[in-house]
Amino acid sequence: MLRRKLRHCKFGRIGLLLFIALAAATLSVVKNHNKTPDFASRNLEIVGENPGSNVNCTKILRGDIEAILGAKLDTITVKNKRKQQHLTENDIINMTKDCNSFTRDRKYVLYPLSHEEHEFPIAYSIVVHHKIDMLERLLRTIYMPQNYYCIHVDKKSSDSFMAAVKGIAACFENVFLASQLENVVYASWSRVQADLNCMKDLYRATAPWKYLINLCGMDFPIKTNQEMVQMLKALKGENSLETEKMPPQKEVRWKKHYEIVGNGIQKTDIDKEPVPFQVPVFSGSAYFVLSRSFVGHVLEDAKIRTFLEWSKDAFSPDEFVWATLQRLPEIPGSVPANSKYDVSDMNSIARFVKWQYLEGDVAKGAPYPPCSGTHVRSVCVFGAGDLKFMLGKHHLFANKFDVNVDSTAIQCLEEHLRHKALHPEIHQ
Ligand SMILES: *[C@@H]1O[C@H](CO)[C@@H](O)[C@H](O)[C@H]1NC(C)=O
Ligand SMILES: *[C@@H]1O[C@H](CO)[C@@H](O)[C@H](O)[C@H]1NC(C)=O
Repeated sequence: MLRRKLRHCKFGRIGLLLFIALAAATLSVVKNHNKTPDFASRNLEIVGENPGSNVNCTKILRGDIEAILGAKLDTITVKNKRKQQHLTENDIINMTKDCNSFTRDRKYVLYPLSHEEHEFPIAYSIVVHHKIDMLERLLRTIYMPQNYYCIHVDKKSSDSFMAAVKGIAACFENVFLASQLENVVYASWSRVQADLNCMKDLYRATAPWKYLINLCGMDFPIKTNQEMVQMLKALKGENSLETEKMPPQKEVRWKKHYEIVGNGIQKTDIDKEPVPFQVPVFSGSAYFVLSRSFVGHVLEDAKIRTFLEWSKDAFSPDEFVWATLQRLPEIPGSVPANSKYDVSDMNSIARFVKWQYLEGDVAKGAPYPPCSGTHVRSVCVFGAGDLKFMLGKHHLFANKFDVNVDSTAIQCLEEHLRHKALHPEIHQ
């Protein structure tokens, strides 16, 4: 089923012809009427999907305090009414019964926007368990016909969530569910396994993608696909992810044996075996930007398999496994283990995140200004006031967003990125 689907997706030649035809048509339009937006892009703009709200995204993205406060007030006062407007699982199940109207009404981009992007497909591993409206808005913002999207749905997810994701996947040749689904327990190995399952499916599909990016349901892009392609090309085969010296207080995470108890993970007094091959362990995050050869090596190398196997009973292995592999000399696109090559989350392009205890006055040395939304486990859930700063950063994605905390932040990013994708010349 999956293989059949992906074989269909290798639409290379037809896609290219279609692209050339579209590009030629667009060029002639642009040539003849310099200021006229092209015919296809006009109805792909995402603007004002929340009628009745006073949000002015132009002002918000410029950091206009009044507009940001106005939007915040707007969210609070019409919150309960607005909540009803988010797409529900049943809405999605209903809408995706007719794929043509779904992709049209939700304004999916169904042709590559440039030759450069068409030639540089990106693969995504998306790990989700609820909030179908967030997933759908994330997907429609990053969706391009030349890319590949593997969605890992938590085994615990409700039947209707699962059905809604399947409905979406059924509307695209290049969107599919992971062939093996895990019950994802917070801070346990299952989080890594979910990404590995998607990696395997994406790698074995022999689709021509160049880089793999993993996402969760609270991520949102802050770059267009075109910008991502340019930044990935600039990596020249290197991977980009956080990988730093292991803080001593975190060593217990892989020195003791942890066990799944109920729906959580618990430390035991049992010591773990020492790290195989005396591999130095580094600290990082669950998020990565990996070259295709990194993925191939991880899936096929026996030494790596031994290391991964050893990591399975550690606490939050997602926060050291990728960081450690990235420092192994035999891994394609890795960096040396020497501390000179440490990469912080702010230096990697994978994810922009604001940690509560580091927020402060940037002029006085803080890495980022205070969170304009709320905090979950010390991580900022962004508000509209966070956008201006993050859009000035080099990261491809930012985490965390939540429509129930601040839907304006997501709305303004959607509008901005779509406009930028359709009119790259205006945003140079
Ligand atoms: C939003 O603000 C910009 C910049 O001040 C302004 O040019 C534009 O007309 C405003 N848009 C709306 C719909 O009010
Ligand atoms: C979806 O819901 C609408 C409104 O409730 C209904 O009219 C329509 O028939 C439904 N479509 C499908 C395909 O079930």
